Amino acid sequence: MGTAGTTGPKGVVTKGMTGRVATGQPGEVTTCERTGMTSLLNAVGKKDARLLIGLMSGTSADGVDAVLCKVTGSEKGARAEFLHLTSVEYPPSIRRLLLGDLRLLSCEEVARLNFLIGDIFAGAALKCLAESGFKPEDIDAICSHGQTLVHFPEPDHPVIPSRATLQIGDISVIAQKTGVLTIGDFRPADMAQGGQGAPLVPYVDYLLITHPTLGRIMQNLGGIGNLTYLPPDASPDSIVAFDTGPGNMVVDGVVSLLTGGQETMDKDGRLASSGCVHRRLLEHLLDHPYFRKPPPKSTGRELFGIQYSKSLIETAHQVGCVSREDIVATAAELTVQSVVRAYRDFVFPKGPVDEVIVGGGGARNPYFMRRFRQELHPVKVLTHDDIGIPDQAKEALAFAILGNELLSGRTNNLPTATGAEKAVVMGKIALP
Ligand SMILES: Nc1ncnc2c1ncn2[C@@H]1O[C@H](COP(=O)(O)OP(=O)(O)O)[C@@H](O)[C@H]1O
Ligand SMILES: [Mg+2]
Repeated sequence: MGTAGTTGPKGVVTKGMTGRVATGQPGEVTTCERTGMTSLLNAVGKKDARLLIGLMSGTSADGVDAVLCKVTGSEKGARAEFLHLTSVEYPPSIRRLLLGDLRLLSCEEVARLNFLIGDIFAGAALKCLAESGFKPEDIDAICSHGQTLVHFPEPDHPVIPSRATLQIGDISVIAQKTGVLTIGDFRPADMAQGGQGAPLVPYVDYLLITHPTLGRIMQNLGGIGNLTYLPPDASPDSIVAFDTGPGNMVVDGVVSLLTGGQETMDKDGRLASSGCVHRRLLEHLLDHPYFRKPPPKSTGRELFGIQYSKSLIETAHQVGCVSREDIVATAAELTVQSVVRAYRDFVFPKGPVDEVIVGGGGARNPYFMRRFRQELHPVKVLTHDDIGIPDQAKEALAFAILGNELLSGRTNNLPTATGAEKAVVMGKIALP
């Protein structure tokens, strides 16, 4: 992040600069502007405390979470102060597109969505600023996860033998609409080093949540469920992290299909709580090979998307599980049991677990929380709210921390979690 030269008067190339001398033609890039940009990067890079906005939208495609935070230091010295959270819902037509069969989208639709979602992400950042009373010039960087369209962690395509991932919401659009330096597209660097490009949040858990004497599982329940196990006084090599399987995705899918799209979630777990779990159907669902596969592993809509929910309902009808409440209860219990069994098979053998801290939208589903407490007793089951981070803010905050590491010139993946050959600096930068 070095500058090519020093700032001089407009149009004058100062020592060490390689740019053209500006002639003042409209639209021409002046050396002064170029130097301004590089010194902006340089200045942000040197700071020890930064105001950052993290932007996140997960596989639920419920909308964009924007978190404003103040981050000081880096690596194990990093500390984050949460300042503000806001969310912007996707318009229903866009959500339907994102939750539909993405293989049917044309290149044109993907390209247009990339820009439109960039606009929506920028809007979420601006709303976060307006609500918190800050201005764009107060903010050092926006760190955006983007919206995942596809994620293929293995090179297992018959014709195109490559891994691939695509997070849209163009970062140049975000930078231009907000006037704030924007970092995004975190996953490809890890995948280029043979990693799965996921999960990325465990590195942040390691930096911020490791406890000297307590063993902790950080359990996120977004569309997908994913965990980070932090043994007491964790070192990077001792961390276990992987996707457990469905979080809210299958419950959302089933509810949406059973209500003809009228409802998109089992609000407050009401349907699940009033139904009965169909044991035989549940065991059949838990027989899915993903649950047996040892970590590292990651999954998404490809395995547990709307097609999966459709076939779950068909199988339910075949085995005589027909009431709406019972089907939703069984789908919800699939999340609970896939999580609890993953702990028993892959986490408890690794070390002590004193606390499970649940985050993401699933922490607001009382059915999940009640069942975790019953199944995991005497382990303490908490939410992120209990440790001072709003449940809905955690993942957006995590991307602010990953961006902060990039700005500090530090690597920000956790190879033990992603399977990458080495630690790399993930993320790309768009200047305003
Ligand atoms: N009050 C609630 N009751 C039940 N489920 C909820 C509630 N609030 C949120 N959720 C669930 O959380 C999901 C969104 O969680 P989120 O962490 O934003 O996921 P993602 O990271 O995939 O966007 C919703 O789709 C819904 O299923
Ligand atoms: Mg969400």
